Amino acid sequence: MVEITNVSEYEEIAKERLPKMVYDYFASGAEDQWTLKENRSAFSKILFRPRILIDVTNIDLTTTVLGYKISMPIMIAPTAMQKMAHPEGELATARAASAAGTIMTLSSWATSSVEEVASTGAGIRFFQLYVYKDRNLVAQLVKRAEKAGFKAIALTVDTPRLGRREADIKNRFALPKYLTLKNFEGLVGKMVKIDDSGLASYVSGQVDQSLSWKDVKWLQTITKLPILLKGVVTAEDTKIALQVGAAGIIVSNHGARQLDYVPATINCLEEVVKAAEGRIPVFLDGGVRRGTDVFKALALGASGVFIGRPVLFSLAAEGEDGVRKMLQILRDEFELAMALSGCRSLKEISRNHIVTEWDKPRSTSRL
Ligand code: FNR
Repeated sequence: MVEITNVSEYEEIAKERLPKMVYDYFASGAEDQWTLKENRSAFSKILFRPRILIDVTNIDLTTTVLGYKISMPIMIAPTAMQKMAHPEGELATARAASAAGTIMTLSSWATSSVEEVASTGAGIRFFQLYVYKDRNLVAQLVKRAEKAGFKAIALTVDTPRLGRREADIKNRFALPKYLTLKNFEGLVGKMVKIDDSGLASYVSGQVDQSLSWKDVKWLQTITKLPILLKGVVTAEDTKIALQVGAAGIIVSNHGARQLDYVPATINCLEEVVKAAEGRIPVFLDGGVRRGTDVFKALALGASGVFIGRPVLFSLAAEGEDGVRKMLQILRDEFELAMALSGCRSLKEISRNHIVTEWDKPRSTSRL
């Protein structure tokens, strides 16, 4: 067994273990994958301004998300088809998230159903929603999630069509025959292997391209659950999100799998935070691989972060234990970043603890 010292190391192990079609599906971004690299490299351009000689014996990482107390501001983003990574798939992820005292978001396209995930035991879980053309189907699914104890809907708003992921096209990507998109089992046709990305063709057949702001209102009529909008990256859309009564925003570019050449999410965050005016929480996902990344997101005003690929890669490497270990590493790194910056609780993390490229004139001399 290789000793893992940071979460990125799981990717190499996953790459060795997984069939090429599966690894490529997990790892890829859209088109030139510019945003994919940028999601990571933008973090490396934000530097620390640590404060010293502060007693950091005790550090409190706990926080509250939509009223739910969690152990740390690091949560699990929805990623599809986790049983391609490991036979226990989403069930293992759900158990690892609960053990870590944090939130798991289950994908609409999970290979385990909302009921199966709920049956793994107690835990705070959100359900990610793709809105299908068949609205009765959507309403049924939301009700099932609600009944299964999910606490919020994360409505994905950046995917009216699927981004062009060239590896999936080359590999003729399709869900392996022995798996199904469990939430839709028996309700819609299966993803089939075709001369293209099977997922792209499934999306164009099922997902409603006409989804618009009025549908957020519609969603509010069919559920009492709070609705987070996942995929907002501008101040303009943040203002509309406030008007329609969104409960929160996840600044996300879908792990760089949708529109290529959108900026790194960490570079969009502050604009969205300012537009939200503290009225709703703003979260971030995309490229978070280090505790220092978590700190930087919080310093720029995020209430928490979500992680995507590290879950899949640690799951592929070591199942539930891998996901547990991965969350523990991020937690430890984040705690260390806080200690070394002189922060004892999340509320002590401030904008003054970091410097960005867009901080003038301070940045010009330092970056
Ligand atoms: C995703 N993501 C995603 N998002 C969503 O709303 N529904 C989904 O089903 C999926 N599925 C999915 C599969 C895979 C393989 C990846 C890599 C991503 C996007 C995900 O929720 C999140 O936005 C990104 O993964 C965050 O970026 P990092 O942490 O992967 O860099």
